[in-house]
Amino acid sequence: MAESLINTEIESWPEQELRGHRIPGSRYTSREFAEQEWEGMWTKVWLLLGRESEIPNPGDWQCEEVGPESILMVRQTDGGVKAFYNVCQHRGQPLVSDEKGSVKRFVCRYHSWAFMPDGSLNFAPDADDFPEGNPCGKVTLEELRCETFAGFVWVNMDPDCVTLQEFLGPIWDDWQSRDLHTWKRYAAPTTTLPCNWKVVLDNFNESYHVPTVHMAAKPSTNRRKVQGAINTNYKETRFDLSNEGHNRMIMRGGYGVGATDKEGNIQEPLASELKHWELDPEDFKGNPEGTREALQQAKRRLGPGRGYSHYSKIPDEQFTDAFHYTLFPNFAVSVWADGFHFLRARPHPTDPEQCIFDNWWYASQPEGDNLPVSTMLGPVERDAEVPHDVFEVGEKSMGKTIDEDIAVFVRQQKGFRSRGYKGVYLANQENRVRRYHELIDDYIDGKLPQR
Ligand code: FES
Ligand SMILES: [Fe+2]
Repeated sequence: MAESLINTEIESWPEQELRGHRIPGSRYTSREFAEQEWEGMWTKVWLLLGRESEIPNPGDWQCEEVGPESILMVRQTDGGVKAFYNVCQHRGQPLVSDEKGSVKRFVCRYHSWAFMPDGSLNFAPDADDFPEGNPCGKVTLEELRCETFAGFVWVNMDPDCVTLQEFLGPIWDDWQSRDLHTWKRYAAPTTTLPCNWKVVLDNFNESYHVPTVHMAAKPSTNRRKVQGAINTNYKETRFDLSNEGHNRMIMRGGYGVGATDKEGNIQEPLASELKHWELDPEDFKGNPEGTREALQQAKRRLGPGRGYSHYSKIPDEQFTDAFHYTLFPNFAVSVWADGFHFLRARPHPTDPEQCIFDNWWYASQPEGDNLPVSTMLGPVERDAEVPHDVFEVGEKSMGKTIDEDIAVFVRQQKGFRSRGYKGVYLANQENRVRRYHELIDDYIDGKLPQR
């Protein structure tokens, strides 16, 4: 019975073998392990680091940090994007210290060496004074592999890496027909968290915590009765693990027990969403499950006329259900019909017990419709992308749900320091957690999945 409720129209990914990793606490606290991870994994994977729309014109650049590195992504005159390590090849001064800008040349603040947007050295003072000859025409910025996909700029520090398409595997297929590259950013808070980056990714790789952390479930709670707008029952959730180390979880949405009151009336925000799509909440009294298919059909029928031109490219399920992806190693994203929740954790430059956490939203911009980007985000202006907002943890809210997750992260990091913690005891629905830890070890051992 339960099986029949699982999505069947979406193709499954191949089965993966798990080895039973116990994921000891030292993985989250040890400097030695962090160094192995950096050398073996971070410097070998494709990393989602920039956004094409941030650098539309030749000479526009964006600079992003990952661990100890600072990476400069620069729009070229031919429309492409190149990535360089943000370091002057004269004596090692970082070239830029802001997050973005636009240049004709990058002029180093130490001795005025000037590099063109393509990385070539164009000027050095006293060029005739160098015993090895004029550095111009010889010296260039150190370039990394760089590709673009879904509107993002991806970089890889490994010169021998596979293509981004090979690395992304089924993600590429799932996303390439979507219009994700046109979606704009409507929330962009970033903060440093006092926990290892994997604490964050572990959490976004399972939904087992959702009833307890986000729905006030107690041991005595009937878990079928705390579904909210999303069905969190693992038996009715699709889990897929890819060869490449990426994961997908599909949860049925658009209805839920929590979406009705005692008399069976549909509650907010589902009631408003139904009305927005010309459906009467009264018609679904006592039958919240019925809203899912009705919403899918209404969006299919009315969406294109309201400016949702991309609706023709997406399956019915995506109109209501949560498509939650985790991309190896550090990017978690819930892709909806009209927006995606962007969650990324980057390693701290020196401390394994801290990470940089981004909690952003991107959304489509249909002409002539004013549906909120997300119920988590509240109403936002749809015409302009919001600027990046960096703050100290706790200084501002990241939204109720993410604040609840963060409270767990901070406490969990402390648990990982205990000599009394012997490692995990995982449920099947937490297989995605185990899988990416096993893959980190594979990378450290030099066993890259695509080779
Ligand atoms: S370090 Fe950049 S010009 Fe000297
Ligand atoms: Fe959560």
